[in-house]
Amino acid sequence: MATADPSTAPRSTDPADLLDVAVSLARAAGELVRDGRRQGLGDIDTKSTPTDLVTTMDTASERLLVAELARLRPGDSVMGEEGGERAGSTGVRWLVDPIDGTVNYVYGIPEYAVSVAAEAAGEVVAGAVFNPESAELFSAHLGGGAFLGDRPLRGSDPASLALSLVGTGFSYDARRRADQARVLAGVLPRVRDIRRIGSAALDLCAVAAGRFDAYYEAGLHLWDYAAGALIAREAGAVFTVVPGAHDLLVAAAPAIAGPLVDLLVELGATA
Ligand code: IPD
Repeated sequence: MATADPSTAPRSTDPADLLDVAVSLARAAGELVRDGRRQGLGDIDTKSTPTDLVTTMDTASERLLVAELARLRPGDSVMGEEGGERAGSTGVRWLVDPIDGTVNYVYGIPEYAVSVAAEAAGEVVAGAVFNPESAELFSAHLGGGAFLGDRPLRGSDPASLALSLVGTGFSYDARRRADQARVLAGVLPRVRDIRRIGSAALDLCAVAAGRFDAYYEAGLHLWDYAAGALIAREAGAVFTVVPGAHDLLVAAAPAIAGPLVDLLVELGATA
């Protein structure tokens, strides 16, 4: 992992420089939300549906991320989960998820993360995912490999789909969940087992770390997966987007990526 001081390279589009910024911001925002959680939850609101939560700390974390990006990277554009948009002129865009796994955060389950990714000329070139509860920092820049802290990551190499541990996630929309449950019922008998952690960013990092053999979910937003998908790819996983009414994302060990995508498409996972 590169170590340059982010403040020395405000206009660089070098992926290693962008990664340094992503890492420092993910850490700072992660520490803010972790410390905030210890002082109580504050207000909890709902967004797209009554099960889709947003806390005071989601908003505070995004505010910190947007303000720090304005300071460290003036001129870059920003897109955040909680609406923190800023237009820019440099060709670099930051995709930030201030708390991925908000439901876990609310319930005190230590599986949530801050996700920060940088896109240059439309391609994600750097990403950091920080779980402040476990202090695990996952990171990657394009062509530079993936890391957990300083340790290089390599995904798993399962013998077959039938012997694979597969993560997934669900929408907040009840009707879509019914469809996702139908797909899941078709996948479950065909794999070793299923996990639902509750943070897409951490799911993708689990593929990178070989903790999952694969992960799939339809209907995610860019900020949920931009950093994690790069980290999974840099760890050797295959990352596929199957377009559909809801784009299906699959990150998988190379040997099972094709069979898993085929199975999910056959089960109608993009509907
Ligand atoms: C959610 C989590 C969850 C996934 C949902 C996402 P949020 O993000 O990543 O694991 O299944 O689709 O919306 O709402 O916690 O930022």
